[in-house]
Amino acid sequence: MKGKNPDKFSLTDVVSIADFSRADIEFVLRRAAEMEKTPQSKKEKILHGKTVASLFFEPSTRTRLSFETAIQNLGGKVIGFPEAEVTSGQKGETTSDAIRIIANYADIIVMRHYIEGAARRAAEISSKPIINAGDGSNQHPTQTLLDLYTIKKEFGKIDGLSIGMVGDLKYGRTVHSLAYALALFKEIKLYLIAPDSLKMPRHIIEDIKGRVAVHETSDLNKFLPEVDILYATRIQKERFPDAVEYEKVKNVYIIRKKTLQNTKKGFRIMHPLPRVNEISTDLDDTEAAIYFKQAANGIPIREAILSILAGAKKK
Ligand code: CP
Repeated sequence: MKGKNPDKFSLTDVVSIADFSRADIEFVLRRAAEMEKTPQSKKEKILHGKTVASLFFEPSTRTRLSFETAIQNLGGKVIGFPEAEVTSGQKGETTSDAIRIIANYADIIVMRHYIEGAARRAAEISSKPIINAGDGSNQHPTQTLLDLYTIKKEFGKIDGLSIGMVGDLKYGRTVHSLAYALALFKEIKLYLIAPDSLKMPRHIIEDIKGRVAVHETSDLNKFLPEVDILYATRIQKERFPDAVEYEKVKNVYIIRKKTLQNTKKGFRIMHPLPRVNEISTDLDDTEAAIYFKQAANGIPIREAILSILAGAKKK
């Protein structure tokens, strides 16, 4: 039975949100809330004497820097690299070999990789816990945990909410992870808004269907009055195999201040960031815009995950 005990975290790696039970998610959210109340003098004992490897084979601002801040807040040491170009991968070393070696240097490994499934493979090889900081278009579980933490803080609950996801639902790992997580909560309505070329993969819809009410459309305005949260995503130029296809959809949805006229009371806009054109800056100072608060929640959530995995023992 997957992670039913509310007082225990059932995983020794954080690879995919699909591995989590609701109890696991709630365990992390509770720990993050505790982290926000814990004095720095107490927090810095949590990773004292421990080393965390921060391996980023793909660009990142928020995830890498919030993990590295969290490690330092918890009194740990950070080793690692911010880009693949400075590693011995350039000499032909495989990521599998690199993970085998780095597991001897570090107590926990945080890894972002451009290949889908790279984190799962690393978790199989590594004797130390692996935290997936994003693997290609597949999963971004720690982003989802901070998204859920943000939702819980704003709405006081996750059950019963109506959530629109808009933009690149095909290649967007944040929305893939979030869709799986929301399927663990009750009476969620999910509105998937994307052009035909960027629709949510069918296998994800099949996996969550039955637990979540799913509606699909390419028209942003169709369900806008229904949703409590609009989770916007960037159309990711770097994921398109064909530049012409990117040009066709790059500015398909632009959310502006006037978009708020058609939304319900308490409506909120989230975005994993970075944004390009999809959210106009005229929204930034509105009550609805919570994407900067969302990014700030990356610190307590990543402190929570690191503190939990610091005590994990892999077989
Ligand atoms: N949200 C997110 O993953 O941002 P970065 O790519 O900057 O880490």
